[in-house]
Formats: sequence, structure tokens, C-alpha cells
Amino acid sequence: MTTRIIPVDDFDLVIFGATGDLSQRKLLPALFHRDEQGQLPPGACIIGTSRKAMSDDDFRAFAAEAIASHVKASAAPKEVVERFLSRLSYYAAEATKDDGWLSLEKELADRKDVVRVFYLAVGPDLFGAICERLGRHGLVTEKSRVVVEKPLGKSGESANAVNNAIGKVFAEPSIYRIDHYLGKETVQNLMALRFANVLFEPLWNHNYIDHVQITVAETLGVEGRAGYYDTAGALRDMLQNHMLQLLCLTAMEPPSCLSADAVRDEKLKVLKSLKPMTAERLEHHIVRGQYRAGASQSGPVPGYLEELGNAASETETFVALKAELRSWRWNGTPFYLRTGKRLPSRLSEIVVQFRNIPHNVFDIAAGPPMPNRLVIRLQPNEGVKLDLMIKDPGPGGMRLQQVPVDMTFKEVFNVRNPDAYERLLMDVVRGNQTLFMRRDEVDAAWAWVDPILDYWKLSHDMPKPYTAGTWGPASAIALIERDGRTWHDEGLL
Ligand code: BG6
Repeated sequence: MTTRIIPVDDFDLVIFGATGDLSQRKLLPALFHRDEQGQLPPGACIIGTSRKAMSDDDFRAFAAEAIASHVKASAAPKEVVERFLSRLSYYAAEATKDDGWLSLEKELADRKDVVRVFYLAVGPDLFGAICERLGRHGLVTEKSRVVVEKPLGKSGESANAVNNAIGKVFAEPSIYRIDHYLGKETVQNLMALRFANVLFEPLWNHNYIDHVQITVAETLGVEGRAGYYDTAGALRDMLQNHMLQLLCLTAMEPPSCLSADAVRDEKLKVLKSLKPMTAERLEHHIVRGQYRAGASQSGPVPGYLEELGNAASETETFVALKAELRSWRWNGTPFYLRTGKRLPSRLSEIVVQFRNIPHNVFDIAAGPPMPNRLVIRLQPNEGVKLDLMIKDPGPGGMRLQQVPVDMTFKEVFNVRNPDAYERLLMDVVRGNQTLFMRRDEVDAAWAWVDPILDYWKLSHDMPKPYTAGTWGPASAIALIERDGRTWHDEGLL
């Protein structure tokens, strides 16, 4: 199986924060891969910008290092690396001062007709200042787009201020709020699975689905990002965006088509139908945790507070909750969400647990029929697994057994799974907003999450400790077991 490459038009991509972690780990390697695959036209230029004084050559050396560290050597032949590096240039510019902006203006002056993308790989506190200067220096053309990274603010109120500041310079159709989970191959596949097969839709409701679990587990701690992470925590960093987006794609009604607004209208309805976090739910349906010293796969690891160097931090590194939707389709089918750092394995999956058969025709010797389960594996080992009941082969009477029909995309298609940023960056150049969050979605997600943050702030409840390398605090297990269900833990260790 080969992948289909559709070349994009010429573009100028200006990365603010070009010497930062995101640019190094994700953006430059993703752009390189697209170049290597032949998707970038000769007129595609990448312009790095940050406060640091640096020459074009220094920036190219930085990019070469990023490619060497994050792209397999076999996918990076020397001549392709050189071609990619020749697309790069660099201008030092201060987000909050005028220094450097004139040079950037000159660089872009004679390319007003090509697609222009401004990627703000910086903190949200700088979004407004950068947009304001882009406007003031006349850099925003008809074909300009701005890409902003999450978290957009720390609450609904601050997100509103950030969105207002961006909105003064860019109209909504030019704003690309990136959530890289939407660019993951299996997340795309969730739509294919639901809307390109007739099998699932009749069953995709509370009559047949008992509950849904969404887990995004990481083995890493906060690494070099403790400064940022301590101001965010798992709820803002993962749940308000990535996990709610996964919930939306799982729960939404089929859109009329895949246009950006058709999909985003349906996701918005899901967010608006989330049952509000009332006092009772806040007390019983949500658990936050913080890891203590323990072990990862590579040996002993310190606790969050030691890593941070602040024994008083109340920031959660784990959150689990039960969400419910006010809708005909989902009434009575809860969605359990959990995410955390320093868990036993790196794993993101959506588990759709079906209800059991209504009447058992088999006798006791056959063994109990187990309900069907669909597992959508986002990472690692991307694929889909459907647990079915079958008869044990051979004589010996009717004996039932649950057996998985397991499809691993790598085995089936034998192609490299592109990183989410590769797809999303090319979507920006093409002007396709389907996989980007619209402002009202971000607002609706904050409106649901804000009461949780307020409750934590006011209550004297600290995050529950859990040992690094375990599945979070015991109360997260109790959260689901109280309802007579268990977390899906097959193959997790
Ligand atoms: C980012 C979060 O958005 O997603 C990180 O800020 C997290 O804290 C990362 O580690 C996880 O992404 P992925 O693609 O590795 O699952």
C-alpha cells in the first residue's frame, strides 16, 4: 500500500518560537517529512523567528540537529536534508518590541500572493502582542492564517481575552486553533469507522453501549516543562482539549458532510450537552492525583514535587472523571475519562463497551457470554480491536470464548504513520479547518471545565498521591468500580 501525496501551493511559514521545544521536536521534523515525501513545492519557505540573535546558518544547524534527533536516518537522505535546509531563513524579532520586525517585513514584501502562515509556538500571553505587530507591520495578507497552540488561556475568561486579541487582527476563518490529537491517524479513523460502515451506527447509542472509556496515559513525568506544567495541570493540559475532543468525535451525531463547520457544529452540540458539574458531581465524579517517587520502565523516578522543587504545589498530574451527556442518544451511557503522567505505560485508547445480550440461549456449561467491546487504539500500535464471542473449536460441546478481531494499521497497510503535525500543517496551508477548534468549541469546553477548577481552588482537598508507575490514586479505581464497571486494563502492563 502506498500513500497518496497531494502537493500543496507555495507558502511562507513563519514560526514564532522557532528555537523552542515544539519547533525542534515536532514542527521542523514534520515539515521535513512532508518535504521528503514530495509534498512541498519549490516555493515553500520556512522562516524562523524568536528573540535569540541567530544567523540563517545557525538556524539551519538547529534544524539539522532536530532532524537528526527526531527523524529516522533512513528517511533523511543527505540531499533531501540539504534541500529542506535551503528553504529555511531566520529573523530575530521581539514579540513585545519593534526590534527585528522591519527585516521580517522586507523578507515577505515581494511574496504577498502566496499563502502565508504564522505559527505561534509561544505562550498564549504573547499571542495578542504578536498578532498586534503582525497587523501593524502590514504582514497580514488576504491569504494569511495564524496557528495557535493550546492551552488557550487558563480559564474561560482568560481564553476569551486571548481569542479577542487574536480576533482583532485575524478573522475566525483564518484562525487555526490546533489540537494535535485531532491530527492523529486513528482519530481520523474513528470517523471512518463510524461513518463509512453501516455496522456501528444502529448500535451507537445508549440501548447498546453500556459505557465508553477514554484513557490517555503517559509514562513520562513533566520533563523540562515543569514551569509551564505547574501552571496548567492535567485538567487544562490534556482534558479540556485533547480528551474532550476525543469524547466529541465518539459521541457526535453524523455530520452532513466533512466540511469544517458541519463537523464543528456537531462537536459543539456534544460539548453543550455535557451535564454540568454540579456540587454532587464535583464531589463524587472526579478525582485528581499527583505522582510521588516510584519507578518507570527505566528505573526509579522522583516525585512531582521533587522534580518541580516546590513542596507546596497543588497541581494535579492525573485526573479521572465521569462525564454524562444530556441527549437521547447517550442518556444513561457514561463516559469515563482518565489521563496522567508517570503511569505504567504510554497508551491512548477509546474503549466502547457494549451491553450484554438480552437473553442467553446457551446452557451453563458454555460459560457466560461476555459483552462485545470495541477498542480504538490511538497509540502505540495504532489499530482497532473488536472483542467477539465465538465457539471454542472442535468437539466437546458448545463452549463460548471471547476472541479479538484485531487490526493493527501498520501490519495492514505497511506504511509509516505520519505524525499529527504533518497532516495539520498541510491542512493549514490548504485552508482546511475541519481538524481545528472553532472559538465556540473552546468556549464551551471551558464552560464545562471552569467549575471544576473553581471547586478545586475553593476546596481544601489536595490531589491524591499515587506512586509513579501505577494507575493513579485508588479513588480513580473506585470512581468506576462504584458503578459496577472496571477500567480496561488488558495489555496495559
Ligand atoms: C501535549 C501536552 O498537548 O500533549 C503534553 O501538553 C503531553 O503534556 C502531550 O505530553 C501528549 O501528546 P502525545 O501526542 O505524545 O500523546
